[in-house]
Amino acid sequence: MCGIFGIVGKKHRLGELIDGLKKLEYRGYDSAGIAYVANGRVDVAKQSGRVAVLEKMYEDRTSTFINVGIAHTRWATHGNPNDINAHPHTDCTGRIAVVHNGIIENFNELKQQLIDSGHFFKSDTDTEIIAHLIEEYYGGDIFDAVKKAIKRLRGAFAIGVVSADEPDKLVAAREGSPLIVGKTEGGGIIASDITPILKYTKEMYFVDDGDIIEINLNEVRFEDYYGKRRQKEPQRIDWEETAAEKSGYKFFMEKEITEEPDVIKKALTGRISEGKIRLDEISEWQELLKKIKTIKVIAAGTSYHSGMVFKYFLNELLPISVEVEISSEFRYMRQWEYDDETLFVFISQSGETLDTLESLRLVKRLGGKTLAISNVVGSTITREAEKTIFINAGPEIGVASTKAYVGQLIVLYLLGATICQAKNCSLETTFFQDLQRMPQLYENALKQSDEIREIAKKYAHFLHFMYIGRKGNYPTAMEGALKLKEISYINATCYAGGELKHGPIALLDSEFPVFVIIPKDDLYQKMKSNVIETRARNARCISLTTNDNHEAKTFSDDVIYIPHCSDHLLPLLCAPYIQLFAYHIADIRGLDVDKPRNLAKSVTVE
Ligand code: G6P
Repeated sequence: MCGIFGIVGKKHRLGELIDGLKKLEYRGYDSAGIAYVANGRVDVAKQSGRVAVLEKMYEDRTSTFINVGIAHTRWATHGNPNDINAHPHTDCTGRIAVVHNGIIENFNELKQQLIDSGHFFKSDTDTEIIAHLIEEYYGGDIFDAVKKAIKRLRGAFAIGVVSADEPDKLVAAREGSPLIVGKTEGGGIIASDITPILKYTKEMYFVDDGDIIEINLNEVRFEDYYGKRRQKEPQRIDWEETAAEKSGYKFFMEKEITEEPDVIKKALTGRISEGKIRLDEISEWQELLKKIKTIKVIAAGTSYHSGMVFKYFLNELLPISVEVEISSEFRYMRQWEYDDETLFVFISQSGETLDTLESLRLVKRLGGKTLAISNVVGSTITREAEKTIFINAGPEIGVASTKAYVGQLIVLYLLGATICQAKNCSLETTFFQDLQRMPQLYENALKQSDEIREIAKKYAHFLHFMYIGRKGNYPTAMEGALKLKEISYINATCYAGGELKHGPIALLDSEFPVFVIIPKDDLYQKMKSNVIETRARNARCISLTTNDNHEAKTFSDDVIYIPHCSDHLLPLLCAPYIQLFAYHIADIRGLDVDKPRNLAKSVTVE
């Protein structure tokens, strides 16, 4: 969950290490550090806290020239988030420095062995053992020493290593944690994701497990751990560098919500014509889609919620079983049934979430059909799944997922409609019309942002919140509660409307407001009864409802209106409203919306 970055080349400056880190800060922000080779030494600077703290320390040195440097932004696993535990870590001599993303599982055992053979440890981290192991094997060739050292490691890692004795060289390796390499003229770049590399090159190598890489001023070379050369083809990434910048917005989250109409357009482009869906990525699966009886969706966090929307959507249309599993649970389930009429769908914005990846590997080992839905080209899940549908939302930097959720929903609706098509079940024309109208409906939703902020002002001081919804809007409520809790730290809980009376209603009073997703759909009357029940307990109520609901004001304290659209698409249309509400509450509370405490965007550890 940490971010690593490294550069090799003649014309680099120290400030580039810090700029690279800023783009990776969403991966963890407990501490930041850099190491670079200068005057026959490895200089290390590291500090707990944000990259900005490090930047301040280095403000008068950012234009210093360097040939080789590594950098790290941390989400703490082993050892407190303090200065000493911050990366880079060095060996006993201080001449070898390492940055690492991942977890070394056998670090206790290795640490003891290294202590017994005389190594001295400064930190509590698992990473430091890597530096000492490399020292143990170092005989003048850092590439060779890294190769020997990593054979001893168990767990997950992406590492970058520099040595004072080989000042124009960076060695990197990957086993389980993401790593991308960009080749530049006279050098190269390593990073945990695409975004910091975009400014140098759009041609990128996606590092595989078992790769060890040497970057020097002449070449980028890939080998396996046994010294066999690996040939790699770079992939072109068409993301714009500016897409990973705030461009005048206060927060990335606000910018990313604003981009949603475009995300929808891109996700729909070329995929619908005359009421027919074309998903080229799975066009070879016509026969499978025709006979499919079970779909297992596996995902985490927000992606799990988009999977839930998919389940409700498909279950309205077809008698097939859609089960949505939390990936960290699914990967440890001992028994589950599947056959050649089962499709496994893995949803992951980043394409790197470890639990989702391990679930995918489990299913593949057992021979299941696997489809990934992801935003990140070249990510591990997309490379390992049999097929992938990309949502093409562009980089999402805010830790709380917004536009990627919307992109996932679009792709999942298209997938659902494709399955319907294959099974000769027809969807009403309004569904397609409304789907194509969605960018415009989203533009209108964005115009309601100020009005939502005014409502948010009245609720920003509450300590608790309950979200309720039914059917496809139950996951909308779940996502609304997740958004609110992750960025505002309000204890936001969520229930299906019908569950209220089975316990949760006991919580409600005037200090416990309720956010109700209550469009005028077939369960409107049921939801209305729920709202009336909550009001009878003095809870304040915000209703998110369709603009044909003329009585909402009679039973709600505040109302946010959305236009009417096909019932199937209401969870999609509600998304920007629940996101904006959470965003404004967090902003009003004065919080760092993009980097909520204790969280990281890409969860590459268990
Ligand atoms: C983290 C992020 C969430 C995200 C979840 C799953 O918890 O903070 O925003 O939904 O991981 O990530 P994925 O990349 O697999 O969708």
